[in-house]
Amino acid sequence: MPLPALQKFERKIERQIRLLEARKYLIERKIDRQIRVFERKRGDIGKKIEEQIRQFERKKGIRLDDEVRFIRSWIERPLTIGAVTPSGKILARAMARYVDPASEGPVVELGPGTGPVTEALVQAGVAPSRLVLVEFNSTFCRILHARFPEATLVQGDAYGLRRLLASLLLQPAAAVVSGLPLVTKPIRQRLRLIRDAFDLMLPGAPFVQFTYSMAAPLPKQLGGFSVEASKRIWMNLPPARVWVYRRSEDRNQKSEIRNRND
Ligand SMILES: C[S@@+](CC[C@H](N)C(=O)[O-])C[C@H]1O[C@@H](n2cnc3c(N)ncnc32)[C@H](O)[C@@H]1O
Repeated sequence: MPLPALQKFERKIERQIRLLEARKYLIERKIDRQIRVFERKRGDIGKKIEEQIRQFERKKGIRLDDEVRFIRSWIERPLTIGAVTPSGKILARAMARYVDPASEGPVVELGPGTGPVTEALVQAGVAPSRLVLVEFNSTFCRILHARFPEATLVQGDAYGLRRLLASLLLQPAAAVVSGLPLVTKPIRQRLRLIRDAFDLMLPGAPFVQFTYSMAAPLPKQLGGFSVEASKRIWMNLPPARVWVYRRSEDRNQKSEIRNRND
């Protein structure tokens, strides 16, 4: 191609690139605007629901503070909160029943939320000073601190359990009780969590987990631990089931959890 034609062609390409960049910029601004509108709407929906709940409270003369905070947090981060309301008393008691209050050592609770299971543990005879509560959400942490001042509260990510608790626990834990929405996580992450939990616990100590889903939160046939399940608790919204895992004493099976996970 002769030089003037080549230069003309180059200028044409440059013009088209500039045009494309301008379009890209406009599209990005449009997307930004739409995200902001969506976030405003989401905030408005949250406020509307809260106002409706307040009206309901006034009419019925009751307080639904925990539920309100739960719903707000759920609207903000549905997958992290994993439930629209806190667990009911029956489910909380069913979870607490798997923890022996006469056992020794700390009792770790993952994702205590506003503390219904914590309350059930204390009512079942677990001293509040034995409780180590690992919660992500700062609003829930403030509530927990006010309600269970003697418990050790750790604000952080329960999926980093080993790093969070290794230096904090002075003796092996007697139990780990979890309200985490485990099934929203990939299986590898769930297995890593339970392995880390078992590493922090006494042999034979329970890892107690509830789920709303029909399926077990960890594959039953995996080996390396024993599994026990409660009946479905219909008096909870939504109905739930409690699953209890204990590490098997068999060394060969134990390595299966590690191999699947490492
Ligand atoms: C389904 S709610 C259960 C709350 C409470 N245990 C109950 O039964 O009402 C799940 C809780 O786990 C917390 N959570 C979710 N992911 C977490 C994480 N990675 N680390 C710590 N807490 C987490 C949420 O903030 C929420 O409080």
